[in-house]
Amino acid sequence: MSGAPAEVAVVGEYHPITEGKATILFPNTNEVFYNPVQQFNRDMSIAAIKTWGKEYLEQKQNKRKGGASDEAAPSGFSVLEALSATGLRSIRYAKEIESLDYVVANDIEADAVRSIRRNIAHNGLTEEKVRPSERDACALMYESRDPAKRFDVIDLDPYGSASPFLDGAVQAVADGGLLCITCTDLAILSGSSHPETCFAKYGGSPVRAEFCHEMALRLVLHALQTSAARYKRVITPLASFSIDFYIRMFVRVHTSPKDVKRTASKTSMVYHCTGCKSFTMQALGKVTTDGKNEKFGVSAGPAANGPCEHCGHTLHVGGPFWGAAIHDADFLSRMLAHVKESKELYVTQPRMVGMLSVASEELDTPFYYTMSSLAAAVQGNNPPIQALFSALLNLGYKVSGSHAARGSLKTNAPTSVVWDVMRTWIKSHPVVEKNIKPTAPAARLLAVEPSAQVDFTVHPKANPDSRKHKLVRYQENPEKYWGPKARAKRARKE
Ligand SMILES: C[S@@+](CC[C@H](N)C(=O)[O-])C[C@H]1O[C@@H](n2cnc3c(N)ncnc32)[C@H](O)[C@@H]1O
Ligand SMILES: [Zn+2]
Repeated sequence: MSGAPAEVAVVGEYHPITEGKATILFPNTNEVFYNPVQQFNRDMSIAAIKTWGKEYLEQKQNKRKGGASDEAAPSGFSVLEALSATGLRSIRYAKEIESLDYVVANDIEADAVRSIRRNIAHNGLTEEKVRPSERDACALMYESRDPAKRFDVIDLDPYGSASPFLDGAVQAVADGGLLCITCTDLAILSGSSHPETCFAKYGGSPVRAEFCHEMALRLVLHALQTSAARYKRVITPLASFSIDFYIRMFVRVHTSPKDVKRTASKTSMVYHCTGCKSFTMQALGKVTTDGKNEKFGVSAGPAANGPCEHCGHTLHVGGPFWGAAIHDADFLSRMLAHVKESKELYVTQPRMVGMLSVASEELDTPFYYTMSSLAAAVQGNNPPIQALFSALLNLGYKVSGSHAARGSLKTNAPTSVVWDVMRTWIKSHPVVEKNIKPTAPAARLLAVEPSAQVDFTVHPKANPDSRKHKLVRYQENPEKYWGPKARAKRARKE
């Protein structure tokens, strides 16, 4: 591979688009894919890679100093952008991430690779720093499975589903390396009209639930860990986001035959009520310890049996999905600190701070209720979120929102306590009883007297810092024709 920029003939009609420190020449004919709404994705990715990279390189240096490795400690890291289109993302990575050694900008389409070359030259970069590659991403990743050939970071930003690329990616990423994964097939991952397609692609089924966007993240993480486990590798999700019309995950991968044994206990099913929307987790494995040794066993079941214990309606089964943490608290706080002090680097910085703050406040417990679904179940009006949070906090439970849905409630309180809070709320905000059909969830829910002593007095922790500081917690749709863009036009052969 030559170090000099390629000779690129600029033909046809282009318009320049500047994003971050990169300017790309984008063909007016739309033969290569570009979606401006994904600037937030690219900004977040740069911040995440920088945050991960600092720790990764420090850990390598320390290992070397400690004599654990004979290799020279690297001063930078390599990146594979497996599905690169215009090369914009790779060029931004090369220009904006100081510790990046080189990035391979790969695409299967000849038109895309021509565009990548044109943009490398236009940005004054070398093909040593940004290495154009015209390969099938899967073939390239499988050829890079040898530890000596692995990439420190692999970025997957596909049309639709990342599922065909996950098995290659978990093998081709270095030990302690980072996977950055986008999926835009939310109709499959979070819709419930095609559970069979979701199961086929990701090995788990979604349910029709308020928490469907978090479920989408957990289904992809499950697919990833399932692949990783085959190669004695484990994933650590550093940060997982539901954004606009897609999801984006930053995940570290380690080789650890010991930790692979935890895969079943980190995998879960969910029983979700079609009536009142209550949910119950069913882990697929358990880990016990006698203080010295760990024992791995199967879980007791079923966690729920027959119709819903709260309202009598049918339960649907969702999963299996990743049941462990979707964020790493320490990583989120370091990424947030970096973004807060880097206003000049990211156009979407206010939204980044907002999303990272809300994610940092999230409880590490799967799924959430929403104010509107809780109110709908009892056929009442939405309670103010602060009243609901206060009631649960006053009872000694933890609460938080979720970055994935406005008006959401995550809590470690048992579902029966959540319903007691709603029952007590309804006592002072009565519902129109004649509108409640005898078979409705509300009929069964409100027939029970609350047993918890519910107190709605405002609790000091009921207003999270992200709301107090008026951060951009939830973004409105950013532009008129917003969504996953259509594929690039098929290459016209000259
Ligand atoms: C959504 S676009 C990538 C956008 C880009 N990452 C960005 O940030 O602007 C997906 C790209 O993947 C490419 N692609 C699809 N299947 C591929 C495969 N098997 N191997 C390599 N590239 C592929 C397509 O040609 C397309 O350019
Ligand atoms: Zn129910």
